[in-house]
Amino acid sequence: MEDKIRKLAEEAREAVAAATTDEQLDAARARFLGRKGKVRELRQSIPDLPEELRPEAGKLINQTGKQLEVLLEQRRQALVGAPDEEQAAEERLDVTLPGRAPRIAGRHPLLATMEDMIDIFLGLGYTVAEGPEVEDYYHAFDALNYPEDHPAMDEQMTFYIEDDVLLRSQTSTVQIRVMAGQQPPVRVIVPGRCFRRDTVDATHCHTFYQLEGLLVDEGITFADLKGTLQAFAEGMFGPEVKVRIRPDFFPFTEPSTEFAVSCVMCGGEGCRVCSQTGWLELGGAGAVDPNVLEMVGYDSETYTGFAFGVGVERFAMLRHGITDIRVFYGGDMRMLRQF
Ligand code: DAH
Repeated sequence: MEDKIRKLAEEAREAVAAATTDEQLDAARARFLGRKGKVRELRQSIPDLPEELRPEAGKLINQTGKQLEVLLEQRRQALVGAPDEEQAAEERLDVTLPGRAPRIAGRHPLLATMEDMIDIFLGLGYTVAEGPEVEDYYHAFDALNYPEDHPAMDEQMTFYIEDDVLLRSQTSTVQIRVMAGQQPPVRVIVPGRCFRRDTVDATHCHTFYQLEGLLVDEGITFADLKGTLQAFAEGMFGPEVKVRIRPDFFPFTEPSTEFAVSCVMCGGEGCRVCSQTGWLELGGAGAVDPNVLEMVGYDSETYTGFAFGVGVERFAMLRHGITDIRVFYGGDMRMLRQF
C-alpha cells in the first residue's frame, strides 16, 4: 500500500509539473483529487487492508492529498506569472540585430551644384528668374539678335514642336522675357533645363542644365563682368582660381567672350582633365548687344550690361570627379546614394 501511495504521489507531481495551462491543471486536479479521482480510489481500498495497517495508510493518503493541493496551488500561481510562450515569441525583441537604417533622400549632385551657384549670386544681390522650356522662335532667336540662317544657330540645333515652337537650347531666352517685363536695373540669374540635338556621349546630352546671368544698369562695363565671373569662380572653386576671358562670338553680346578658369584639378599645370592646357572652359559671356537692349525697349545709350551662361553639369563633374555626364540622368541609386 505504501508503495502504491508513493507511486501515485509521484505520478501526480509529474502531472502537475507538466501542466502549462489552467485547463491542464484542472484536469490533473480532477484526475487525482476529483470525486472519481485516484486518491479517493485509494482511500476506498483501505478496508481491504489488514486492520492494523489501516490507520497508517489513511494518514499517508491524507497527507498525499494535502501535498497535492499545495502543489496544484503553487503551479497555478507559477502559471499566472509565466508569460504565454506564443505571445512571448511574437513580442521577442533581439536587441543585437543591426538596425534597419532609413533611406534618407539626398540632394542630386546637379541640383546641389546649381543651388550653390545660386547662393553665390544671391549674395551678390541677384534674384532668380525662370522661363519656359518650350519657347517660341522669337524669344529663342530673333530677340537674341540671331540673323536669319546665321551659322551661330547651328550650335543651337534643338527639338521643334511646331515651325516656330521649340525646346529652348539655352537659358539666354529668358534674358528677353525678364527685360521685356521690367525697366533697368536688372540683376537676375536663370537656372534651367535646356535641350539640343546633340548625340549623347560622355560630355553631351540632349537635355542639360545652364545657369544664365544678366545685369543691366547705367555705367556697367566689362570690368564689372570680369569681377563678377571672378567672384563666381572663387565661390565655386576657392580663392586660388584664376579667370581667363578670350574673344568669342555670341549674337546677343558685343563684344563676346569665352569664360575659362585655371584648371581646378592641376592648378593650371596641365593635366588630363584640362587636356594639358591648364584651363577649363566653363561658358560664354559678354556685354549685352545694344540691338538686344533696343529690342526690349531699353535705351542703349543710357544702359549697358553684361550677360553670361555656364553649363551646370561641367561644374558638377569637376567638383565630384565625374567623367561621364550620363550618370547624372540615369537615376541609378548606386550613384545617387553617394551624395
Ligand atoms: N547661351 C550660350 C550658350 O549656350 C552661353 C552664353 C554666352 C550665355 C554668352 C550668355 C552670354 O549670357 O552672354 O552657349
